Amino acid sequence: MLKEEILHMMEKQEDFLSGQEMCNVLGVSRTAVWKAIRQLEAEGYEIEAVRNKGYRLLSEPDLLTEKEISENLHTRWAGRHLVLMESTDSTNNEAKRLAEAGEPCGTLVISEIQTAGRGRMGRPWSSPKKSGIWMSLLIRPKISPVHASMITLVMGLSVQQAVKNETGLSCWIKWPNDIVADGKKICGILTEMSAETDAVNHIVIGVGINVLNEAFPDEIRSVATSILKETGASCSRNKIIAETMNRFEHNFDIFLKTEDLSGLLDTYNASLINRNRQVRVLDPAGEYSGTAAGIDKDGELLVRTEDTVRKVTSGEVSVRGVYGYV
Ligand code: BTN
Repeated sequence: MLKEEILHMMEKQEDFLSGQEMCNVLGVSRTAVWKAIRQLEAEGYEIEAVRNKGYRLLSEPDLLTEKEISENLHTRWAGRHLVLMESTDSTNNEAKRLAEAGEPCGTLVISEIQTAGRGRMGRPWSSPKKSGIWMSLLIRPKISPVHASMITLVMGLSVQQAVKNETGLSCWIKWPNDIVADGKKICGILTEMSAETDAVNHIVIGVGINVLNEAFPDEIRSVATSILKETGASCSRNKIIAETMNRFEHNFDIFLKTEDLSGLLDTYNASLINRNRQVRVLDPAGEYSGTAAGIDKDGELLVRTEDTVRKVTSGEVSVRGVYGYV
Protein backbone atom coordinates (compact mmCIF):
# COMPACT_ATOMS: atom_id res chain seq x y z
CA MET A 1 0.00 0.00 0.00
CA LEU A 2 1.30 3.44 -0.95
CA LYS A 3 0.90 5.02 2.48
CA GLU A 4 2.88 2.19 4.08
CA GLU A 5 5.69 2.61 1.56
CA ILE A 6 5.76 6.36 2.20
CA LEU A 7 5.77 5.77 5.95
CA HIS A 8 8.64 3.34 5.57
CA MET A 9 10.65 5.89 3.57
CA MET A 10 10.07 8.61 6.17
CA GLU A 11 10.96 6.26 9.04
CA LYS A 12 14.33 5.58 7.45
CA GLN A 13 15.08 9.27 6.84
CA GLU A 14 15.90 11.53 9.79
CA ASP A 15 15.69 14.75 7.81
CA PHE A 16 13.10 16.00 5.31
CA LEU A 17 12.21 13.78 2.38
CA SER A 18 11.15 15.64 -0.74
CA GLY A 19 7.77 14.92 -2.29
CA GLN A 20 9.44 14.67 -5.69
CA GLU A 21 11.80 11.96 -4.45
CA MET A 22 8.86 9.95 -3.13
CA CYS A 23 7.15 10.30 -6.51
CA ASN A 24 10.28 9.16 -8.37
CA VAL A 25 11.03 6.18 -6.14
CA LEU A 26 7.43 4.99 -5.93
CA GLY A 27 6.37 5.94 -9.46
CA VAL A 28 3.27 7.86 -8.38
CA SER A 29 1.93 11.42 -8.75
CA ARG A 30 2.36 14.30 -6.30
CA THR A 31 -1.36 14.18 -5.58
CA ALA A 32 -1.13 10.50 -4.65
CA VAL A 33 1.72 11.27 -2.23
CA TRP A 34 -0.20 14.16 -0.69
CA LYS A 35 -3.31 11.98 -0.22
CA ALA A 36 -1.25 9.25 1.46
CA ILE A 37 0.31 11.84 3.80
CA ARG A 38 -3.17 13.08 4.75
CA GLN A 39 -4.27 9.50 5.48
CA LEU A 40 -1.27 8.97 7.75
CA GLU A 41 -2.05 12.20 9.61
CA ALA A 42 -5.63 11.06 10.08
CA GLU A 43 -4.28 7.88 11.70
CA GLY A 44 -2.31 9.91 14.22
CA TYR A 45 1.11 10.26 12.57
CA GLU A 46 2.55 13.74 13.10
CA ILE A 47 4.15 14.93 9.88
CA GLU A 48 5.84 18.27 9.28
CA ALA A 49 5.44 19.63 5.74
CA VAL A 50 7.75 22.45 4.59
CA ARG A 51 7.74 24.08 1.17
CA ASN A 52 10.81 23.21 -0.94
CA LYS A 53 11.98 20.73 1.67
CA GLY A 54 9.27 18.06 1.77
CA TYR A 55 7.96 15.92 4.61
CA ARG A 56 9.41 14.84 7.94
CA LEU A 57 7.96 12.28 10.36
CA LEU A 58 7.78 13.79 13.87
CA SER A 59 5.94 11.08 15.82
CA GLU A 60 4.04 7.85 15.34
CA PRO A 61 0.80 6.87 17.08
CA ASP A 62 0.82 3.87 19.36
CA LEU A 63 -0.93 1.52 16.96
CA LEU A 64 -1.30 -2.15 17.78
CA THR A 65 0.74 -4.09 15.26
CA GLU A 66 1.43 -7.79 14.87
CA LYS A 67 5.00 -6.91 13.88
CA GLU A 68 5.91 -5.03 17.06
CA ILE A 69 4.16 -7.54 19.31
CA SER A 70 5.90 -10.52 17.65
CA GLU A 71 9.32 -8.82 17.72
CA ASN A 72 9.09 -8.57 21.50
CA LEU A 73 7.58 -12.00 22.12
CA HIS A 74 9.90 -14.70 23.49
CA THR A 75 7.32 -17.41 24.13
CA ARG A 76 6.84 -20.94 22.87
CA TRP A 77 3.04 -20.68 22.65
CA ALA A 78 1.51 -17.74 24.55
CA GLY A 79 0.44 -15.08 22.05
CA ARG A 80 1.94 -17.02 19.15
CA HIS A 81 -1.35 -16.91 17.25
CA LEU A 82 -2.44 -13.26 17.22
CA VAL A 83 -5.91 -12.08 16.26
CA LEU A 84 -5.82 -8.28 15.99
CA MET A 85 -9.20 -6.60 15.59
CA GLU A 86 -10.33 -3.02 15.04
CA SER A 87 -13.56 -3.62 16.97
CA THR A 88 -15.44 -6.43 18.68
CA ASP A 89 -18.13 -6.78 21.35
CA SER A 90 -15.76 -8.36 23.87
CA THR A 91 -12.42 -10.06 23.27
CA ASN A 92 -13.51 -12.72 25.79
CA ASN A 93 -16.57 -13.46 23.61
CA GLU A 94 -14.40 -13.53 20.51
CA ALA A 95 -11.84 -15.86 22.13
CA LYS A 96 -14.67 -18.19 23.21
CA ARG A 97 -16.03 -18.24 19.66
CA LEU A 98 -12.53 -19.08 18.38
CA ALA A 99 -12.12 -21.76 21.05
CA GLU A 100 -15.34 -23.44 19.88
CA ALA A 101 -14.01 -23.24 16.31
CA GLY A 102 -10.90 -25.16 17.39
CA GLU A 103 -8.26 -22.40 17.52
CA PRO A 104 -5.08 -23.47 19.36
CA CYS A 105 -3.86 -22.89 22.89
CA GLY A 106 -1.99 -19.57 23.02
CA THR A 107 -4.36 -17.71 20.69
CA LEU A 108 -4.45 -14.06 21.76
CA VAL A 109 -7.34 -11.83 20.71
CA ILE A 110 -6.72 -8.07 20.93
CA SER A 111 -9.08 -5.31 19.92
CA GLU A 112 -8.66 -1.52 19.60
CA ILE A 113 -12.16 -1.06 21.02
CA GLN A 114 -14.78 -3.24 22.75
CA THR A 115 -18.41 -2.29 22.26
CA ALA A 116 -19.62 -4.50 25.12
CA GLY A 117 -16.57 -5.05 27.32
CA ARG A 118 -17.42 -7.12 30.39
CA GLY A 119 -16.05 -6.88 33.92
CA ARG A 120 -16.40 -9.18 36.90
CA MET A 121 -19.76 -9.70 38.60
CA GLY A 122 -21.69 -8.76 35.45
CA ARG A 123 -20.37 -5.20 35.44
CA PRO A 124 -19.53 -3.40 32.17
CA TRP A 125 -15.89 -2.64 31.38
CA SER A 126 -15.14 0.72 29.77
CA SER A 127 -12.97 0.00 26.70
CA PRO A 128 -12.54 3.16 24.62
CA LYS A 129 -10.76 3.18 21.28
CA LYS A 130 -6.96 3.07 21.10
CA SER A 131 -6.51 3.93 24.75
CA GLY A 132 -6.05 0.60 26.42
CA ILE A 133 -5.15 -3.03 26.05
CA TRP A 134 -8.25 -5.15 25.69
CA MET A 135 -7.10 -8.72 25.14
CA SER A 136 -8.02 -12.33 25.87
CA LEU A 137 -5.73 -15.33 25.93
CA LEU A 138 -7.11 -18.76 25.06
CA ILE A 139 -5.50 -21.70 26.83
CA ARG A 140 -6.27 -25.42 26.93
CA PRO A 141 -4.44 -26.71 30.01
CA LYS A 142 -4.59 -30.31 31.15
CA ILE A 143 -5.47 -29.48 34.74
CA SER A 144 -8.32 -30.20 37.08
CA PRO A 145 -11.10 -27.58 36.73
CA VAL A 146 -10.97 -27.00 40.50
CA HIS A 147 -7.50 -25.49 40.13
CA ALA A 148 -8.41 -23.16 37.29
CA SER A 149 -9.33 -20.11 39.38
CA MET A 150 -5.67 -19.76 40.40
CA ILE A 151 -4.75 -18.97 36.79
CA THR A 152 -6.33 -15.54 37.22
CA LEU A 153 -3.79 -14.81 39.94
CA VAL A 154 -0.98 -16.05 37.69
CA MET A 155 -2.12 -13.56 35.03
CA GLY A 156 -2.48 -10.77 37.61
CA LEU A 157 1.12 -11.27 38.68
CA SER A 158 2.28 -11.39 35.05
CA VAL A 159 0.55 -8.10 34.16
CA GLN A 160 1.96 -6.38 37.25
CA GLN A 161 5.49 -7.52 36.34
CA ALA A 162 5.09 -6.53 32.68
CA VAL A 163 3.69 -3.05 33.39
CA LYS A 164 6.36 -2.34 36.00
CA ASN A 165 9.12 -3.58 33.72
CA GLU A 166 7.96 -1.79 30.56
CA THR A 167 6.86 1.54 32.03
CA GLY A 168 8.69 1.85 35.36
CA LEU A 169 5.35 2.50 37.05
CA SER A 170 5.25 1.40 40.65
CA CYS A 171 2.16 -0.80 40.59
CA TRP A 172 0.81 -3.49 42.88
CA ILE A 173 -1.59 -6.42 42.97
CA LYS A 174 -4.82 -5.91 44.86
CA TRP A 175 -5.97 -9.42 45.73
CA PRO A 176 -7.01 -11.40 43.85
CA ASN A 177 -6.11 -9.85 40.51
CA ASP A 178 -6.64 -6.11 40.15
CA ILE A 179 -3.51 -4.09 39.42
CA VAL A 180 -3.40 -0.74 41.17
CA ALA A 181 -1.21 2.35 41.10
CA ASP A 182 -1.50 5.24 43.50
CA GLY A 183 -4.59 3.66 45.07
CA LYS A 184 -6.53 3.31 41.82
CA LYS A 185 -7.14 0.46 39.41
CA ILE A 186 -5.21 0.23 36.12
CA CYS A 187 -6.07 -3.37 35.23
CA GLY A 188 -8.82 -5.92 35.73
CA ILE A 189 -8.96 -9.58 34.74
CA LEU A 190 -11.96 -11.73 33.83
CA THR A 191 -11.34 -15.46 33.49
CA GLU A 192 -13.98 -17.73 31.99
CA MET A 193 -13.84 -21.50 31.68
CA SER A 194 -15.55 -24.24 29.71
CA ALA A 195 -15.11 -27.59 31.47
CA GLU A 196 -16.48 -31.09 32.10
CA THR A 197 -16.57 -32.51 35.64
CA ASP A 198 -12.94 -33.57 35.58
CA ALA A 199 -11.39 -31.86 32.54
CA VAL A 200 -10.97 -28.35 31.17
CA ASN A 201 -12.07 -27.73 27.57
CA HIS A 202 -10.67 -24.26 27.44
CA ILE A 203 -10.05 -21.17 29.56
CA VAL A 204 -10.22 -17.58 28.35
CA ILE A 205 -8.28 -15.03 30.40
CA GLY A 206 -9.46 -11.51 29.60
CA VAL A 207 -7.16 -8.63 30.53
CA GLY A 208 -8.11 -4.96 30.46
CA ILE A 209 -5.29 -2.46 31.04
CA ASN A 210 -5.90 1.30 31.06
CA VAL A 211 -2.88 2.64 29.21
CA LEU A 212 -3.47 5.96 27.47
CA ASN A 213 -6.87 6.94 28.93
CA GLU A 214 -6.94 10.61 29.83
CA ALA A 215 -10.37 10.55 31.46
CA PHE A 216 -12.85 8.03 32.84
CA PRO A 217 -16.66 7.83 33.05
CA ASP A 218 -18.13 9.44 36.20
CA GLU A 219 -19.04 6.14 37.85
CA ILE A 220 -15.43 4.86 37.93
CA ARG A 221 -13.46 8.14 38.05
CA SER A 222 -12.65 7.83 41.74
CA VAL A 223 -11.30 4.26 41.46
CA ALA A 224 -9.74 4.07 37.97
CA THR A 225 -6.52 5.42 36.52
CA SER A 226 -4.24 4.78 33.54
CA ILE A 227 -0.52 4.32 32.99
CA LEU A 228 -0.42 7.67 31.15
CA LYS A 229 -2.15 9.49 34.01
CA GLU A 230 0.26 8.01 36.54
CA THR A 231 3.55 8.34 34.66
CA GLY A 232 2.73 11.36 32.49
CA ALA A 233 4.39 9.55 29.61
CA SER A 234 3.24 7.56 26.64
CA CYS A 235 4.32 3.93 26.32
CA SER A 236 4.10 1.08 23.84
CA ARG A 237 0.99 -1.05 24.16
CA ASN A 238 2.61 -3.60 21.83
CA LYS A 239 5.55 -4.07 24.20
CA ILE A 240 3.33 -4.36 27.26
CA ILE A 241 1.24 -7.02 25.49
CA ALA A 242 4.32 -9.01 24.48
CA GLU A 243 5.92 -8.73 27.92
CA THR A 244 2.69 -9.85 29.60
CA MET A 245 2.73 -12.98 27.42
CA ASN A 246 6.44 -13.57 28.18
CA ARG A 247 5.84 -13.32 31.91
CA PHE A 248 2.63 -15.34 31.81
CA GLU A 249 4.17 -18.29 30.00
CA HIS A 250 7.08 -18.36 32.46
CA ASN A 251 4.81 -18.08 35.53
CA PHE A 252 2.35 -20.59 34.11
CA ASP A 253 5.16 -23.17 33.68
CA ILE A 254 5.90 -22.76 37.39
CA PHE A 255 2.18 -23.08 38.26
CA LEU A 256 1.83 -26.28 36.19
CA LYS A 257 4.60 -28.07 38.10
CA THR A 258 2.45 -28.28 41.23
CA GLU A 259 -0.96 -27.13 39.93
CA ASP A 260 -0.94 -24.54 42.67
CA LEU A 261 0.77 -21.27 43.55
CA SER A 262 3.48 -22.62 45.85
CA GLY A 263 6.24 -21.73 43.36
CA LEU A 264 4.92 -18.17 42.91
CA LEU A 265 3.89 -17.37 46.46
CA ASP A 266 6.82 -15.21 47.47
CA THR A 267 6.84 -13.19 44.23
CA TYR A 268 3.09 -12.64 44.37
CA ASN A 269 3.04 -11.69 48.04
CA ALA A 270 5.94 -9.26 47.56
CA SER A 271 3.75 -7.28 45.14
CA LEU A 272 0.54 -7.51 47.14
CA ILE A 273 -0.71 -4.05 48.11
CA ASN A 274 -2.98 -5.43 50.83
CA ARG A 275 -0.16 -7.22 52.61
CA ASN A 276 0.11 -6.35 56.29
CA ARG A 277 -2.67 -3.80 55.87
CA GLN A 278 -6.01 -3.58 57.57
CA VAL A 279 -8.72 -4.88 55.22
CA ARG A 280 -12.48 -5.22 55.39
CA VAL A 281 -13.84 -8.49 54.01
CA LEU A 282 -17.30 -8.01 52.50
CA ASP A 283 -18.49 -11.57 53.09
CA PRO A 284 -22.23 -12.08 52.43
CA ALA A 285 -22.23 -14.32 55.52
CA GLY A 286 -21.00 -11.43 57.66
CA GLU A 287 -18.44 -8.67 57.16
CA TYR A 288 -15.28 -8.57 59.23
CA SER A 289 -11.94 -6.75 59.43
CA GLY A 290 -8.42 -7.99 59.92
CA THR A 291 -4.86 -7.78 58.67
CA ALA A 292 -4.09 -9.30 55.26
CA ALA A 293 -1.12 -11.63 55.66
CA GLY A 294 -0.70 -12.69 52.01
CA ILE A 295 -2.00 -15.60 49.94
CA ASP A 296 -1.52 -19.30 50.52
CA LYS A 297 -0.65 -21.86 47.84
CA ASP A 298 -4.32 -22.15 46.81
CA GLY A 299 -4.60 -18.42 46.16
CA GLU A 300 -6.75 -17.75 49.23
CA LEU A 301 -6.11 -14.52 51.12
CA LEU A 302 -5.13 -15.11 54.71
CA VAL A 303 -6.71 -12.53 57.00
CA ARG A 304 -5.58 -12.39 60.61
CA THR A 305 -8.40 -11.39 62.92
CA GLU A 306 -8.17 -11.00 66.70
CA ASP A 307 -8.67 -14.68 67.47
CA THR A 308 -7.84 -16.61 64.29
CA VAL A 309 -6.58 -16.63 60.68
CA ARG A 310 -9.41 -16.76 58.17
CA LYS A 311 -9.06 -17.87 54.54
CA VAL A 312 -10.83 -15.75 51.95
CA THR A 313 -11.67 -17.46 48.67
CA SER A 314 -11.76 -15.25 45.58
CA GLY A 315 -15.06 -14.82 43.81
CA GLU A 316 -17.16 -15.10 46.94
CA VAL A 317 -16.29 -11.82 48.56
CA SER A 318 -14.73 -8.40 48.02
CA VAL A 319 -11.83 -7.12 50.05
CA ARG A 320 -11.54 -3.40 50.62
CA GLY A 321 -8.94 -1.35 52.39
CA VAL A 322 -10.33 0.05 55.58
CA TYR A 323 -9.83 3.58 54.18
CA GLY A 324 -11.06 3.03 50.62
CA TYR A 325 -10.57 0.90 47.54
CA VAL A 326 -7.12 -0.56 48.33
C1 BTN B 1 -12.83 -6.58 36.22
O1 BTN B 1 -14.02 -6.37 36.44
O2 BTN B 1 -11.96 -6.12 36.94
C2 BTN B 1 -12.42 -7.42 35.03
C3 BTN B 1 -12.28 -6.61 33.78
C4 BTN B 1 -11.85 -7.42 32.57
C5 BTN B 1 -11.85 -6.61 31.30
C6 BTN B 1 -11.24 -7.36 30.14
S1 BTN B 1 -10.96 -6.31 28.76
C7 BTN B 1 -10.62 -7.69 27.76
C8 BTN B 1 -11.59 -8.78 28.16
N1 BTN B 1 -12.82 -8.66 27.43
C9 BTN B 1 -13.85 -8.36 28.22
O3 BTN B 1 -15.03 -8.19 27.84
N2 BTN B 1 -13.44 -8.27 29.48
C10 BTN B 1 -12.03 -8.53 29.62
